[in-house]
Amino acid sequence: MTDPRLSAVERFYDFHPINAKQILDAVAARGIAPEAITEAVLQQHDQDHYGGTAATDRLIAEAAVRADDVVLDICSGMGGPARYLAWKTDCDVTGLDLTASRVQGAGELTRLAGLADRVRFVHGNALEMPFDDASFTLAIAQEAFAHIPDKPRLLAECARVLQPGGRLVFSDILHRGDLSAHDAQRLLDGMTFSEIETLDGYAQHLGACGMTIVQRLDLTAEWTRILVERHAMYRSLEPDTVARLGREHFERYDRAYEHFVGLYRSGVLAGALIHAVRGR
Ligand SMILES: C[S@@+](CC[C@H](N)C(=O)[O-])C[C@H]1O[C@@H](n2cnc3c(N)ncnc32)[C@H](O)[C@@H]1O
Repeated sequence: MTDPRLSAVERFYDFHPINAKQILDAVAARGIAPEAITEAVLQQHDQDHYGGTAATDRLIAEAAVRADDVVLDICSGMGGPARYLAWKTDCDVTGLDLTASRVQGAGELTRLAGLADRVRFVHGNALEMPFDDASFTLAIAQEAFAHIPDKPRLLAECARVLQPGGRLVFSDILHRGDLSAHDAQRLLDGMTFSEIETLDGYAQHLGACGMTIVQRLDLTAEWTRILVERHAMYRSLEPDTVARLGREHFERYDRAYEHFVGLYRSGVLAGALIHAVRGR
């Protein structure tokens, strides 16, 4: 992998406060033994996007997910949404993620939840997906595309792996058009967000690869509230994070997150759920 921005993402998620060990520790703290783990237990801890299972339920409703859907979860992280979709709708899900430790952790959690027959994880880059053309009926992603440079190429890959008529339903961190170069650099350095798009930018790139937007939901107000709470939650993990990764790591992450949340509070950043359909 040559692009340093992609290597930085892998390092960022290797040391992320939400990880397989933290999820299993949280489950154990509830007095649940590993052999008693089910999807219903895991889903309270493993959704690494804003809004937990309620946000995934909204995505499921927007995408009208069916049991016969063949779903790709792009940037699947710890596999929480992938497992939830399969558990809730009986569909088949493949997760794709760049970070090897996330792929390994997602596989382990999925085996523990007994869903490995319908949910699998592949290590790879969304900019060159290791899948044949027209492999999926639905592709989803949550709060991940901001990490990925080169949106035209990313969306062309999404369109390529979808069947004609296939749906792409994703939520992402956006900006309103006045993100300064200084703030963009801080978001890259601190959060590994290499390219934050605008809503208009997404509409243009999707159109260029034969996809039409059929729905867009503004999530900015909801995310601002959630991010303030998330920051407090990360701060509450301070003793654990310091013990695991050191004080310097904790403080660097805390400063970066404070800046990120500040850009939501000041209305520079936004968020949306976008539903697009590949033309036939
Ligand atoms: C915020 S997490 C979201 C995880 C998951 N969607 C969820 O909601 O629980 C972002 C994920 O995107 C992955 N990622 C970032 N850039 C990627 C790329 N170019 N290709 C594949 N995965 C990528 C990261 O490794 C990380 O696991």
